Amino acid sequence: MSSADETLFITGATGFLGGYAATRLLDTHPGVRLRPLVRARSREQAIERLWGSFQLHVDAARFWEMMDRVEPALGDLHAPDLGLDAATREAILGDTGSVLHIAASLNRKSDKACLNTNVRGTLSVVKLARALADGRGLRRYTHVSTVAVAGKRNAEVVLEDDAIDWDRSDYDPYARTKKLCEHLAHELLPDVQKTILRPSIVMGDSRFPETAQFDMVRATAFLADLPVVPFRPTWRADIVNADWVGRAIETLHMKARPEHTIYHLSAGLSSPTLGAVGDALHAGTGKRIRFAPSLLGPFQTAVDLANGWRAKNPVTLVASLLKVFLPYITYDTVFDNARAVAEVGVAPASFTGYGPALYRWSKANAFTYPTRPLPSRAEAEKTKEAAA
Ligand SMILES: NC(=O)c1ccc[n+]([C@@H]2O[C@H](COP(=O)([O-])OP(=O)(O)OC[C@H]3O[C@@H](n4cnc5c(N)ncnc54)[C@H](OP(=O)(O)O)[C@@H]3O)[C@@H](O)[C@H]2O)c1
Repeated sequence: MSSADETLFITGATGFLGGYAATRLLDTHPGVRLRPLVRARSREQAIERLWGSFQLHVDAARFWEMMDRVEPALGDLHAPDLGLDAATREAILGDTGSVLHIAASLNRKSDKACLNTNVRGTLSVVKLARALADGRGLRRYTHVSTVAVAGKRNAEVVLEDDAIDWDRSDYDPYARTKKLCEHLAHELLPDVQKTILRPSIVMGDSRFPETAQFDMVRATAFLADLPVVPFRPTWRADIVNADWVGRAIETLHMKARPEHTIYHLSAGLSSPTLGAVGDALHAGTGKRIRFAPSLLGPFQTAVDLANGWRAKNPVTLVASLLKVFLPYITYDTVFDNARAVAEVGVAPASFTGYGPALYRWSKANAFTYPTRPLPSRAEAEKTKEAAA
């Protein structure tokens, strides 16, 4: 089964990483067609939703060209059999060559959202992959997971095959349910070629300062703006650039024979220390970061207290972000990426290089991506011609 002219069933294309992966797939593989699962009531609405995530990467004229190779499947991970109507399901079973499952709930505070989207949703996607494998055959099932499946850690370098340890506790429902999702894929698709991809903390793009995902960026900017940060400067932070993660998802999904089943999409041993991140921010923004690790206990207490407040304001927003992200900053753990670097052929960029521009742009834009409405195809083409 060749991937060159394949139709992919893809989930999560309206999201941050899905936008990276989908545009990269369409750009790099001219024969590839996508059938993205989209929560929408009509094809028109689905296309507008896809523009939401594609516009970081392509202009409207290129977007409309891409749409000639995109046929949205209207549905929902929470609905029985993905909420697909009979004709769409038949079409998927008739021509899908591979499945790329990216969608998830990243709501670390909600058991319910993680259970429904991640576990029930993945079960439905895996069942569809099973039906494909039992029918026309399936070239590959790729599952975008997370390094959070490695559970609670302390000052470690985690290798792919050692990450899941069922006796270990998890930090949150997101990590717990994503671990179970990997298990579902292994158990229900034992005979199918699978690729499990685990990004670490994905932040920003190494090529430009614009981004469309802000939770971790906002938490990092808040910490950088404090008079002192309650961390050790020697702790490492496994932060990876989204452009490399998107490229890795595309490369590894399309590869005829990847060497391994599981890959960390992470900065790995090249992860900078928090001290190096502080130095880079100082050089790029003039802001000096001072470290006071003895304040970690009181800081965590303050975050817990602010989380108890009912009011919704910038302080409680940041407190709620810090509550879920602090463990991933303070555990000083990185995820070996040698497998992915070897097969993608290029290493991720260092956050110390592009982080300061990301910080400046995100603050200047109040942590919001300036979304543009989708012009009609004719308007988009006219604008492109006028610019040429
Ligand atoms: N970003 C990171 O730092 C990071 C790190 C490690 C791993 N990951 C993994 O990467 C993947 C993508 O994350 P992301 O950052 O791109 O997240 P995101 O921007 O929140 O996107 C989530 C995607 O999932 C879709 N989705 C959620 N609930 C759905 C439902 N009920 N039915 C259909 N689709 C649904 C969303 O669709 P709507 O647009 O309709 O909401 C969206 O397309 C996830 O598997 C995540 O675990 C991300």
